[in-house]
Amino acid sequence: MVLTWPSPLIIAHRGASAYAPENTLAAIELAIDMKAHMVELDTKLTADEHVVVIHDQTVDRTTDGSGKVMDLSLAELKMLNAGSQFSVDYGHANIPTLDEVFEFYGGKTLFNIELTNYTSPFDQLPEKVSQLIKRYDLQNSVLVSSFHPIPLSRFHKFSPDIPIALLARAAYLGFLSRGWLGRALIPYQALHPNNRDVTKKLMDTAHHYGHRVHPYTVNDQEEIKTLFRLGIDGIITDDPALVSHLLSNNESFVDHNNKQ
Ligand code: G3P
Repeated sequence: MVLTWPSPLIIAHRGASAYAPENTLAAIELAIDMKAHMVELDTKLTADEHVVVIHDQTVDRTTDGSGKVMDLSLAELKMLNAGSQFSVDYGHANIPTLDEVFEFYGGKTLFNIELTNYTSPFDQLPEKVSQLIKRYDLQNSVLVSSFHPIPLSRFHKFSPDIPIALLARAAYLGFLSRGWLGRALIPYQALHPNNRDVTKKLMDTAHHYGHRVHPYTVNDQEEIKTLFRLGIDGIITDDPALVSHLLSNNESFVDHNNKQ
């Protein structure tokens, strides 16, 4: 499968998370305003098996509550404030469901949905995410990613036509994912490596196999320019406004021949 999305893609990490509380509707709205092409969001299941958008396994860092997401019901999670930890200006933000995200923003942006059921890789998350994508007819606007091969393989079984991306841990921890084993195990269309692991060799190999390369998570101007010179196909950033600004003012550092 060849992806026909723009290259390079600006992928807003957890929404425009440099400017608004991560993984909230406000951060998605801002990412779209800042001309991100795609919004990266983290998904996991509640105790009553709703798909919610939150990165950590617990609510402790990003909300005023405490406890594991998988131990809390949707009603309990919805009572939490997911904005004030970031700024008092976001006191009304709550944890969105993926259903709400697709209802409000489906068709308005592309999505990179990360399956973050890392402590419960055999749960129903892949199936439920697949069902939601199909319910909103977003098969052509979604890229589903994970560091874990099991949720990603299970998602692929439910939805073989929806593109997937393999996330690779930094340095030696991601060595196997970035190499032949990752390619053998997961029929991915995009590789999401740590930005420090992107080399010309990695780029050449990925493009040889027809894979896009979207490194994470890059917010430094010089690092962004270096990666674009290496021919990356997209960049996962907390600061889509910065990347948008660099792309519009420094066209010369993008290799326009390097398109999938
Ligand atoms: O998906 C890119 C990036 O989010 C991966 O790292 O820890 O933020 O899920 P993490």
